[in-house]
Amino acid sequence: MNYLFKASAVIDRPKYVKKAVPASLSDVEPRGTIGRMERLPRLDGESLVDFFTGFMVYGLPGRGALGNAFAARFKAILEDNGLNPKDDIPVERFLHLVQDDHIIGSRLQAWLSTIQLSWKTIQDGFHEKADDYFAEMEGADKAGPGTLELNPDLIIPAYAKHEIHLQPGGYVGDPFSGYINYYYANIFYAAFYKGNTQDQVQADAVSRIPTPADGQVQRILDMGCATGRLTLAVKERFPKSEVWGIDVGGPMVRFAHTRGIDLGIECHFAQRLAEDTKFPDNHFDLIISSIMHHEVSAAATDDIVAEAFRVLRPGGVYFPMDHRTGKQLPKRDAATNFFVWLDHHVNNEVWRPEFESRDFAEVIRGAGFDVDENVRPARFGNGVILATKKA
Ligand SMILES: C[S@@+](CC[C@H](N)C(=O)[O-])C[C@H]1O[C@@H](n2cnc3c(N)ncnc32)[C@H](O)[C@@H]1O
Repeated sequence: MNYLFKASAVIDRPKYVKKAVPASLSDVEPRGTIGRMERLPRLDGESLVDFFTGFMVYGLPGRGALGNAFAARFKAILEDNGLNPKDDIPVERFLHLVQDDHIIGSRLQAWLSTIQLSWKTIQDGFHEKADDYFAEMEGADKAGPGTLELNPDLIIPAYAKHEIHLQPGGYVGDPFSGYINYYYANIFYAAFYKGNTQDQVQADAVSRIPTPADGQVQRILDMGCATGRLTLAVKERFPKSEVWGIDVGGPMVRFAHTRGIDLGIECHFAQRLAEDTKFPDNHFDLIISSIMHHEVSAAATDDIVAEAFRVLRPGGVYFPMDHRTGKQLPKRDAATNFFVWLDHHVNNEVWRPEFESRDFAEVIRGAGFDVDENVRPARFGNGVILATKKA
């Protein structure tokens, strides 16, 4: 299936969907829910996803036997070659030493296959029931609470067309990108953190978001909202505020809106660019984003930060949560450098090195904000920067 990353291609019902299902059919959850999470459409898919999650953990140093074997082997190879693994050694200096090792290779192949098969399993599950899930989205498109704005004419910027972290179709190239991303993210959160099926990561992050000094929070914008988990959580914390989530991916905001309806949370979702939000000057009291900037080019980050400054009102708070950079970046060891390298070269985190090579706090300061980069982390070790626009 080739959607060519055209915004319209993923919003119109594609030809392969044959069955006419009334758009009034809503809330498709063939296997029920677990709290806030709808279960995957098929038991075998859910079982595979559970297996992949466990297998991902098996490969993590400090968590699973394969991961520990990998870490021990990596350390031994470097030490045998006169390198100290605790040093911040560039990958180019040791790649040739580790790349053909069978233990390292097994771990990397297991990791890559787990990622690829996880995406594929989840994608297949939704494609197989495309009629029903299209009808669910179509039923939700014009319903509330909240609103949805899709823009089939949006020109997707080149930097956003990549299949970031190997998601098939990326954020913009599959009609079910939102569904697929939501369930894959659950694997990631279960493997690397304590799970997130109930959006607990976003609820925790949102509980730490600072508010403007005058306490006024009438309008909130979440840039790069993806499946809307943070957007919905922020509305739950500020129920009286008008909350907007915008994302370049139509299928992302479409899923977010559908989920908002399911959970009865009133948010407004729109397919718009964070660098061109279409909102008036000085409109928002609070602007947030979470793990978006390391997934866009440096040029786009500059434009997005400038746009945040434009649409934030004087005295308002801009609070981007993302990878640590600049003075926040912890000292790296060789293994961390290797994982970051793999994330870029194998897991297709296209823009991560570029983002981490700059000082994000300085970028934000350069756009005119007052910046405090010593605030406590908002979520699982990510860096946070508290930026305010002078009142
Ligand atoms: C890692 S996801 C964000 C996750 C989400 N904020 C959360 O906390 O669950 C990054 C999102 O940024 C979106 N994005 C990338 N570039 C964008 C842009 N220029 N404007 C709006 N959204 C963008 C992607 O489509 C993707 O959905």
